[in-house]
Amino acid sequence: MELSAVSETALWTLYQRSVEARRPDPLLEDPKAVELVERIDYPFAERFGTSDFQAQLQALRVACFDREVAGFLAREPRGTVVCLGEGLETQFWRVDNGRAQWLTVDLPESVSLREKLLPPGPRQRYLAADATDLAWADEVDRDRGVLVTAQGLCMYLRPPQVRALISGCADRFPGGSLVLDAVPRWFGRLTLRGSLRTHGYQAPPMPWAMDADEQAKLRTASPAVSAVRDVRPTGGRGLVGALLPLALVLPPLATRRPSVTVLEFAERPDRS
Ligand SMILES: C[S@@+](CC[C@H](N)C(=O)[O-])C[C@H]1O[C@@H](n2cnc3c(N)ncnc32)[C@H](O)[C@@H]1O
Repeated sequence: MELSAVSETALWTLYQRSVEARRPDPLLEDPKAVELVERIDYPFAERFGTSDFQAQLQALRVACFDREVAGFLAREPRGTVVCLGEGLETQFWRVDNGRAQWLTVDLPESVSLREKLLPPGPRQRYLAADATDLAWADEVDRDRGVLVTAQGLCMYLRPPQVRALISGCADRFPGGSLVLDAVPRWFGRLTLRGSLRTHGYQAPPMPWAMDADEQAKLRTASPAVSAVRDVRPTGGRGLVGALLPLALVLPPLATRRPSVTVLEFAERPDRS
């Protein structure tokens, strides 16, 4: 399997979910991820190493997105969930309600892999497109509520692209929302220097990074962003579980941690 460095990151996140889901006490139930890792001919463990800590952190992040999507589906059972940069995410199989519409937008090589491994069902559509070109928005059914997710995507974009993505979504989906995650600045700097290595795997450069105390700044991307909300991880196992509540409130970790943010869009963008 030949994949570019950024598309290969979807295998990394898939593998972390599968490692967590294989545990007897998982934070994330994800049998589809376990099944996929068993089916794909790829040296996951050799390439990425296996770290329970890493898998747990990944599961905590994923659970934040699942919670937001499940909350949206509870409010808008027939709404549309748009997953930008979805890679091999198996969220549909974790939180689908049997009635919603799902649209995946990812780069052509990732979509072709997803089509082979996770063929779309009747309420799922896969679109091979660059998420930063807002043309995909024309494909979205806006009649019954829209939630856009960008899980593990924005860090690979340039800062002006992230702002344009936020303002483009805010303009096109009044009353909708966008959930995105960010790595902290120190982490982004390590990737730009090429010094973020685990078990011989080098993470690709992450040009966009944001500290957790900068979330409110995202509002400046568009006057149509009406609210910004931090989605905090909950639960956790062992030492992580014990320290998480403190890490979320005590500096420096509280501000220099990865974050998940919800941006809500005004019903009618204020253009005054
Ligand atoms: C770290 S993976 C995340 C995959 C999935 N969301 C998850 O959390 O497991 C990054 C994904 O973003 C996709 N991606 C990167 N740049 C993109 C772009 N400009 N437009 C659409 N997808 C992009 C990659 O192909 C890859 O599938």
